[in-house]
Amino acid sequence: MSETVLLVGGGGREHAIARALADDCTLYACASNRNPGIASLADGFEQVGERDADAVVAYAEDTGADLAVIGPESALEAGVADALDAAGVYTFGPRADEARIETDKAFQRRFLDEHDVPGNPDYETFHSAEAAAEYVREYDGDVAVKPVGLTGGKGVRVTGDQLTTEAAVDYVLDAEWDDWVVEERLVGEEFTVQAFVANGEVRTTPAVQDHKRAYEGDEGPNTGGMGSYSDTDLTLPFMTEVDYEDAVEIIESVVDALPGYKGVLYGQFMLGADGPKVVEFNARFGDPEAMNTLPVLETPFLDVLTAARDGEPLPELTFSGEATVCKYAVPAGYPVEPEAGERIEVDEASVGDALLFYASVDQREDGLFTTTSRSFAVVGLGDSIAAAEADAESALSVVDEGFHVRHDIGTAELVQSRVDHMAELRGE
Ligand code: AMP
Ligand code: GLY
Repeated sequence: MSETVLLVGGGGREHAIARALADDCTLYACASNRNPGIASLADGFEQVGERDADAVVAYAEDTGADLAVIGPESALEAGVADALDAAGVYTFGPRADEARIETDKAFQRRFLDEHDVPGNPDYETFHSAEAAAEYVREYDGDVAVKPVGLTGGKGVRVTGDQLTTEAAVDYVLDAEWDDWVVEERLVGEEFTVQAFVANGEVRTTPAVQDHKRAYEGDEGPNTGGMGSYSDTDLTLPFMTEVDYEDAVEIIESVVDALPGYKGVLYGQFMLGADGPKVVEFNARFGDPEAMNTLPVLETPFLDVLTAARDGEPLPELTFSGEATVCKYAVPAGYPVEPEAGERIEVDEASVGDALLFYASVDQREDGLFTTTSRSFAVVGLGDSIAAAEADAESALSVVDEGFHVRHDIGTAELVQSRVDHMAELRGE
């Protein structure tokens, strides 16, 4: 019997999920924006707010979905997985309570401490901006200041890197939030490991490095992620197999502490001389990281979902062994003053061998329009990061002047600078 799967979410990550599932099941999708890539792969697409649990459940029931996959954290926070589960639709995505590992950064840090998860940095939590600001002022060293709730990756500020202590104090006092986490600044190279988790089992995927800063050379404000790369094996050029295994152990110890967790668990790590430290956990695939991982996953993603639902052992994963480079095209001015509502044309034919994933764009009767967020991504694949990067660049001829792209992502020069940075930290 063929499975009917409902996908929730309309970004690049969800386009990659749709591509991984479409050939193996009957696929329906819903999101607040009409993503043309997802709509063309799915058997049906409904415009529904990702946080509107009742409307998502109603669409699941209309379509006869047996299974659901949730892309965005906003839906998890709103209890969409809880509502679908309660309606009898097994959902690969944690319930709101367990998604707090992402949606409440104060809970996240305390949870890691209480369960003796290794790699948690020094931190304090606050219910008032004044108290957080005072702590930042007094702290001996650089800090990261984080609003406790979801900010789409744009709320964090790091002293000694992006701004001075005084500017961080002003940022906290002027911002709209009361609840903060202030933590020691971690120094090193960041990487992501995403795992499929269900019934206490964990299956991890290749490490990916995202690029958070808006401009080339890691300058400018933080974004949701401008692009990312992965290598032909599980590691990245600046890390060892032991570093990867240490990260997997950290993920496994979180899963031990969350025995009912189901869905993707995303660990973001800072690799320093003492091994990986936890930057954060997310309760879903990364965006862009899903676009690196799913195209090289040879195991059908549907087999992971059905095993999770049926309480069977999760399949051992196999990967194609290709390197990947993902580059996002974002509206001019993103993330500070993005030019939304611009009509765009994307010539899919000129993408060549690379993959094109639509993100926060909206297909209307009169054309395709940008929103305030990332517009589309290209993913190059190859037998080395350099080959994948060249593939991604040739596909970027689809991008016109209204967009900004970080062309440096995945280039030999930037990757080498990561390797050199790590060697310096390790005193090599
Ligand atoms: P988050 O929203 O927690 O992923 O943070 C966004 C970005 O801020 C991360 O990808 C890091 O680049 C940076 N960041 C977060 N926490 C820290 C930390 N403790 N030390 C240094 N950088 C951090
Ligand atoms: N790429 C970072 C995130 O998905 O949160």
